[in-house]
Amino acid sequence: MYSLARKLLFTLSGEAAHQIALESLDAAARLRLIKPFVAKRLQAPVKVMGLEFPNAVGLAAGLDKNADHLNSLDQLGFGFIEVGTVTPRPQPGNPKPRLFRIPEQEAIINRMGFNNKGLDHLVNQVQNQSMNALLGINLGKNLTTPVEEAVNDYLVGLEAVYNFADYVTVNISSPNTPGLRNLQYGEALKDLLQPLKEAQARLADQHQRHVPLVVKVAPDMDEDELQSLAATLRQLKLDGVIATNTTLDKSAVEGLRYGEEAGGLSGRPLTEKSCEITRQLADALEGDLPIIGVGGIFSAEDAVERIEAGASLVQLYTGFIYRGPSLISECAEAIAGMNKN
Ligand SMILES: Cc1cc2nc3c(=O)[nH]c(=O)nc-3n(C[C@H](O)[C@H](O)[C@H](O)COP(=O)(O)O)c2cc1C
Repeated sequence: MYSLARKLLFTLSGEAAHQIALESLDAAARLRLIKPFVAKRLQAPVKVMGLEFPNAVGLAAGLDKNADHLNSLDQLGFGFIEVGTVTPRPQPGNPKPRLFRIPEQEAIINRMGFNNKGLDHLVNQVQNQSMNALLGINLGKNLTTPVEEAVNDYLVGLEAVYNFADYVTVNISSPNTPGLRNLQYGEALKDLLQPLKEAQARLADQHQRHVPLVVKVAPDMDEDELQSLAATLRQLKLDGVIATNTTLDKSAVEGLRYGEEAGGLSGRPLTEKSCEITRQLADALEGDLPIIGVGGIFSAEDAVERIEAGASLVQLYTGFIYRGPSLISECAEAIAGMNKN
């Protein structure tokens, strides 16, 4: 079924196809047509960051930026869904076209630029949701906020979503917001995360609930940079790390249609790279923080390999676009099978 739908959708431009697919999913949910066609959510609970995830497979950030499709996405069987990236104020993102499929490499290049409807809208959407999957909310900064003042945007975000999220992600690894990735290094990272940890402690007190704070990182870091990042995350006692966002390395798509487009590359070309980053981070973190592995997961084997590399959970994005919803249960079952051995 999905391969037929995919054939039709792939005749449209990248962004239009995503929008139509999500709207069709909502329509199918309204007509109660999802459950008969999709495998039941695998119940294989995993405890990570003090939370019980129904299974180990999540939807990565960026597909449902505004939490507009939660009810229908929840019916596909994910163990967790990450919405966002959301910025304090609404913003249009980059001019279209800004999303390009490269089917020869099962890849996508995107330069969306945090197009989103802002915090008020997202909070409105999530506050009355009743999902079975856990909910992650991914925070970013507005384009017009100078990088030196980025911490204020993340603090506003954390405050607004704290009560509605199962975990909150600090996204400092999108390549499409100028200067954002600089926050991953040295003092800039500490200056960002320290106040966020303090705010988290205050909010935990206020709401009588500890909501884990995780950092999402880029795959384009060398070993020294990763070591330094891991040391800071351990020192400041972050709750987890998501590895990885998209890459700026386009060598895998060189010469292909859209291969020269500006933006971040995701999908197949990222499988090895993200897995290696997960392995190196797992070494450097020595079990202090759990890792959510994402990037180029297209099969049960990819998911198992990511867990073997040191991830506790995985997320899907591009693999989900190319393979469809059956990938969720395939990965969840394979990971659950590992835990039994
Ligand atoms: C079109 C598109 C939009 C994305 N938007 C976001 C985003 O808003 N925030 C974020 O943290 N990651 C975003 N990502 C990155 C994904 O969450 C994921 O980390 C990355 O694509 C690697 O996984 P994949 O190879 O399975 O796609 C986006 C990816 C794509 C393809």
